[in-house]
Amino acid sequence: MLQTTPQTMGQQFGRRSWAEPWKIKMVEPLRVITRADRERALQDAGYNTFLLKSDDVYIDLLTDSGTNAMSDRQWAGMMLGDEAYAGSRNFYHLEAAMQKYYGYKYLVPTHQGRGAEHLLSQAAIKPGQFVCGNMYFTTTRLHQELAGGTFTDVIIDEAHDPASTHPFKGNVDLNKVQKLIDAVGASKIAYISLAVTVNMAGGQPVSMENARALRALCNQHGIKIFLDATRAMENAYFIQEREAGYQDKSLAEILREFCSYSDGATMSAKKDSLANIGGWLALNDYDLFEEASNLVVVYEGLHTYGGMAGRDMEALAIGIEESAQDDHMRARIGQVRYLGELLTDWGIPIVQPIGGHAIFLDARAFYPHISQDEFPAQTLAAELYLDSGIRSMERGIVSAGRNAKTGDHNRPKLELTRLTIPRRVYTQAHMDVVAEAVKAVYDHRETTRGLKMVFEPKYLRFFQARFERL
Ligand code: F0G
Repeated sequence: MLQTTPQTMGQQFGRRSWAEPWKIKMVEPLRVITRADRERALQDAGYNTFLLKSDDVYIDLLTDSGTNAMSDRQWAGMMLGDEAYAGSRNFYHLEAAMQKYYGYKYLVPTHQGRGAEHLLSQAAIKPGQFVCGNMYFTTTRLHQELAGGTFTDVIIDEAHDPASTHPFKGNVDLNKVQKLIDAVGASKIAYISLAVTVNMAGGQPVSMENARALRALCNQHGIKIFLDATRAMENAYFIQEREAGYQDKSLAEILREFCSYSDGATMSAKKDSLANIGGWLALNDYDLFEEASNLVVVYEGLHTYGGMAGRDMEALAIGIEESAQDDHMRARIGQVRYLGELLTDWGIPIVQPIGGHAIFLDARAFYPHISQDEFPAQTLAAELYLDSGIRSMERGIVSAGRNAKTGDHNRPKLELTRLTIPRRVYTQAHMDVVAEAVKAVYDHRETTRGLKMVFEPKYLRFFQARFERL
């Protein structure tokens, strides 16, 4: 068993500096291709970083999803995979870890987060109902819409302002929920989809107080709350750091309390849980669990593997436990903050406060001369790759897709380029290199031109859309 250290290692020595609570046992060489080759690779990829080959990338900050470095204990767990079709022992380990750390009763494993979103949306949304969420997430909203639901954003206004320094910018505005209840009636609201942290807002947390108040409001009206718990452990760290009364509580205790205000959760285990693949849906209601267990065999796999190999479930069960270590989380969020503070010191516009999993560059502020319809954040991701082979991702108008009814672009207030930090993968020196690259692109911002979209897929267009330079 891992030891939970009450203090982080730096604190034990009584000094200010701290370091990662691990050392490196295996390395993977990196390579940088020439600028001419990067120009060609970018053109071949239609100026979309999702279409680049990984071999052509130097530092890969596309996503923190499935890109984690596993520990020696997790790799050892991989050798203990019980690849039985039914009743794998690794499933029971995973179920026990979920119950211990997240506290829900029933587990439905899925291949990744969107598998869980699909099952929950199909089981809990009736066509014509509304689903409230603290800002949309791409796959989550699409599954809600495909089930016949209408997404309504109920996040506080501060979340849409990159400069607002609200400490819990992911919070739900209870007045917005109340207004929707008054307008359509509680029975027309399928559930509240509460994401922690809020990816599209910049990895921003939700406070315990807000979750508690939302629970009270929903109890009055018989509305269910489902968490998107993808980065709930990172959320717990912000509560420990910022919310009165939680400084002396462990992340594990904070997470348990937070989850207790919800009726279940969807999980992309490729993030917080330090695994490379996996996900789950957790529920407290038996009838809903029964429905989801029936659907899982149609879309994912048997209800004791849900699309994961036994070895993946074992690595995930161990990853859940490791993710709850306070030392781990301090190093994880500390590294993101290190990069963000460097950029802030250099006057580069990023979303404040610095969030949990990524730095979000404010592409509108980089390129005020590029209109949103010329894709400033997509442009910035392309420029960064061209400058240094660093891969980032668009989180603006391309990601927001089109309005399901009118077919016009959704035009989000936030037009961001995300530098997502994989867990336990890169060093502080890599962060220095990234900061210098961003600075170089910022220094050339005035001569940069936008893009036009030349191919647009029907669903989740940001993954496969193609662009050309204007
Ligand atoms: N919810 C959140 C908040 C996410 O960030 C993601 C994935 C999902 C659900 C879907 O999970 O990918 O396992 O199917 N986010 C990745 C990202 C893709 O790069 O932000 P999935």
